[in-house]
Amino acid sequence: MNLFRTKPIDPNANTGLKRTLTALDLTLLGIGAIIGTGIFVLTGVAAAEHAGPAIVLSFIISGTACAFAALCYAELSGAVGGAGSAYGYAYVGIGEFVAWIIGWDLILEYGVATSTVAIGWSGYFAKILSSFFGIELPHALTAAPMEGGICNLPAILIVLMLSGLLCWGVKEAARFNGAMVMVKLVTILAFIAIAGPHVDPANWHPFIPEQVIDADGNSHFGFAGVTTAAALIFFAYIGFDAVSTAGEEAVKPQRDLPIGILASLGICTVLYIIVSGILTGVVPYTQIDIKAPIAAAMGTLGIGWAQGMIATGAIFGITTVMLVLYYALTRIVLAMSRDGLLPAPMAAVHPKTQTPVKLILASGVVIALIAGFFPIGKVAELVNLGTLGAFFLVCLSVIILRKTKPDLKRPFRTPWVPLLPLIGMGFCAWLMASLPALTWIAFAIWMSIGLVIYFTYSRHHSAINSA
Ligand code: ALA
Repeated sequence: MNLFRTKPIDPNANTGLKRTLTALDLTLLGIGAIIGTGIFVLTGVAAAEHAGPAIVLSFIISGTACAFAALCYAELSGAVGGAGSAYGYAYVGIGEFVAWIIGWDLILEYGVATSTVAIGWSGYFAKILSSFFGIELPHALTAAPMEGGICNLPAILIVLMLSGLLCWGVKEAARFNGAMVMVKLVTILAFIAIAGPHVDPANWHPFIPEQVIDADGNSHFGFAGVTTAAALIFFAYIGFDAVSTAGEEAVKPQRDLPIGILASLGICTVLYIIVSGILTGVVPYTQIDIKAPIAAAMGTLGIGWAQGMIATGAIFGITTVMLVLYYALTRIVLAMSRDGLLPAPMAAVHPKTQTPVKLILASGVVIALIAGFFPIGKVAELVNLGTLGAFFLVCLSVIILRKTKPDLKRPFRTPWVPLLPLIGMGFCAWLMASLPALTWIAFAIWMSIGLVIYFTYSRHHSAINSA
């Protein structure tokens, strides 16, 4: 019962799927999964409460951390392939225990990320109702108890609706990705074109506002605020790893996977820096709307039609991200139950719909409750901690696999191993350390539950036992 037992690499895993995706397709796939609540919503809290105009620096810091992790993802996805993503890489490279930790961590990441995106969706939904129909939803029904509300009803309802869609098998919905990417890009470019000329450089001073400590003893702004904001808006980059799961469908994975991963990250980083620069340039950072900042900035400028247009584009874009994340959650649970680490009935596929109905509905209820009763910043921080942990382990896996499986065929090799993965691990650890203690406590509780399940159930039921 060795904690470090590994699963053999399945030589057939790289066959069967049609290789049709080009570098451009892969890049669009990445952009589709990346642009969502992070830029459209979290930029508001991050700038208004933590970094001020220096939010652009925060985007550069998080983008750099992601770039290192992305290079490591590129190597592992080429060499190991398969669904399961980071969980699968660790299972063949490091061993079952670490794989379990990553898998359990990814369940948290994708589940809570779906809640986070749903809360962002709700902010834009309310904005659309007010810009187009003059309907103002009551605060009590659009805010979490910690924000003075009762619950975030639109967030709950959108999750339940998506659960229904996924049960009926809307895998195809993810294929609307191409169209959605265009809608998102046009929305972002429209914001840049319309708001750009209204920038007043005076709003960028002070660039890094002076540090203040609030009544609750929390620190805001200063350089610490820039890193706190970086750890928060890291959320905006989550999703580039989705490109790595398409390795088996790439025409030239060796060349195009790294291009897809790095180009989608690079494009989003540039767009994020420009958008956040313009946002803080047109609205003084203290007055940024924290629910729908990008659309609301248009309202502040008195361009009502653009506010409605941007809110509409954002809501479409955000919906697809939610669908992709929710779908990814079910994929990771399926992979883990196939390996015997989670009970098989959990992932049972309904004979009629061919979808794991029980799993989708049960996780939907939990995701909806989190979306309805917690503030966006808190849940995003929890997702980020989990994801940064997974990225850290992905970087580590590259170093370990180079030692343990030097002959493995690696279509793409991360440059300067071990230096580059080590720098990536350093960045991840730095951002993780910038997240609040409460987030760490929630994370520790989740991981402890995972350990109990592993030692009482999973290691005894692992498919490796019977192999
Ligand atoms: N990066 C994705 C978003 O910002 C998860 O919504």
